[in-house]
Amino acid sequence: MTTPLLLETSAVAKAFGAVVALRAVDLRVRPGEVHALLGANGAGKSTLVKILTGVLRADAGAIAIHGRPVALRRPADAQGHGLAPVFQDPAMAPDLSVAENLRLTRVDVPAVRRHLSDMDLGQLDLGEQVRDVPLPFLRMLDLARALAFDPQLLVLDEITAALPPDLSERVFAVMRRWKERDRAVLFISHRLAEVRAHCDMCTVLRDGRDVASFVPAEGGEGQIVAAMLGEAATVVREEARTRSATAVDVGDTALLEARNIGAGRHLEDVSLAVRAGEVLGLAALEGQGQDVLFDVLSGNRKADRGELVVDGVTVKAHHPFDVIRRGVVLVPSDRLQALLPQRSIRENIAAPLFNRVTRWGPINGREEGRRIDEAVQRLSIDTRAASQVRRLSGGNQQKVTIARWLARGLKVMLLFDPTRGIDVGTKHQVYDLVRALADEGAAIVMFTSELREIGLVCDRSAVLHNGRIVAELPADAGESALLRAAHGLETVPA
Ligand SMILES: Nc1ncnc2c1ncn2[C@@H]1O[C@H](COP(=O)(O)OP(=O)(O)OP(=O)(O)O)[C@@H](O)[C@H]1O
Ligand SMILES: [Mg+2]
Repeated sequence: MTTPLLLETSAVAKAFGAVVALRAVDLRVRPGEVHALLGANGAGKSTLVKILTGVLRADAGAIAIHGRPVALRRPADAQGHGLAPVFQDPAMAPDLSVAENLRLTRVDVPAVRRHLSDMDLGQLDLGEQVRDVPLPFLRMLDLARALAFDPQLLVLDEITAALPPDLSERVFAVMRRWKERDRAVLFISHRLAEVRAHCDMCTVLRDGRDVASFVPAEGGEGQIVAAMLGEAATVVREEARTRSATAVDVGDTALLEARNIGAGRHLEDVSLAVRAGEVLGLAALEGQGQDVLFDVLSGNRKADRGELVVDGVTVKAHHPFDVIRRGVVLVPSDRLQALLPQRSIRENIAAPLFNRVTRWGPINGREEGRRIDEAVQRLSIDTRAASQVRRLSGGNQQKVTIARWLARGLKVMLLFDPTRGIDVGTKHQVYDLVRALADEGAAIVMFTSELREIGLVCDRSAVLHNGRIVAELPADAGESALLRAAHGLETVPA
């Protein structure tokens, strides 16, 4: 006798008005399996997750758990059947403490603490306000909360997208434990290397349908990309981007320079300089001061010591506007903080343009429209739900956070994990775009939690450990050298 499937969906469908998110999805997850759910941005993955966890109701189709048909009308039904999610975006109210948030969801708080300790995160303070907790730790808290329900099927919607290597490893350890207990994990990620390393099976969605199901480790990444993108797969190129022949000359003077920056116990004597035409990569494990450094560089936080110099002028930054008005723009880690969720794509991209009104007189409407269209096109933003960005898929929201600055013109761009949640088809567009901005004369600082990206787009990198820059490496240093430096170990001289 074969054991029944842990989860089976048949012809599940869901539309939002005119937008068809899911046409007909069949998904089969076995006990003891880590099952990847794959697909390009907007393919319907998060919509399926919300149906499986009772947040949304399917328009049609059937769901069975352990061989029995179930009705998932509300989150409590899903919980009762042993399904617990970590959603794509953090699910905690920012103005409450973590503990208050946990109490609201009636989760067993001691169990949450136990799971945190098991993941070596026992030091996290549950009394802290959610808005003060860095995004990666919030994701780990969401995971601990899901685990506290002791689910049969743990559903992880892009949990690793915001996690540096050290924290991702802890998630993989949890996934292995869940398998060993003959339970299952449904794992969503755009990082194909981790899918191939940690998933036993995968199902690929395209345009709201399941188009393929196979063992991801067997074929190459090409097999996954082909299933995800169909015809469009041929344009994906995994190659390092270098300065183009037509690029502006890298000047002698830095467009952005940080001199001996110190901030509380987070940063100590950090100096860096980026010139026009350069892309500087920044690598770090979680909690090494990277978020504080970006806050200082973007004028969101005043350094205690040191100087910030933009294009030769020392900025006494008291407000992000002092920095923005000198042409320094930020793509932050938390897209919800950057966007106006109730507003349209168009309004979100136009918002930074309004600053121009005060400086150079009003920009004309048609010109603005043209620039916005160009930015939407350059990043292939899915405009099917364009009237409110909160209705866009996570990856498409992320693209809007980048696009909003493109229409404006800039001198220095600070990118904090810009490809978080962006699919393999569009990641290369972001890489090309970053390179093109540099070639046109911008200076770029890019933090990435995906070390591979440093070799793909950056000219050189700096590694932050314990609030200090511990290494400066050339673009081709390789992931293992970056990782060693990020752990504070000596790098082997070339
Ligand atoms: N509330 C909503 N109203 C209108 N459209 C919606 C809503 N929620 C989702 N959609 C649309 O449904 C489609 C599928 O979105 P979904 O979030 O499931 O994609 P996804 O596969 O999770 O993508 P990503 O990898 O970017 O997270 C998208 O076109 C999205 O705009
Ligand atoms: Mg999603």
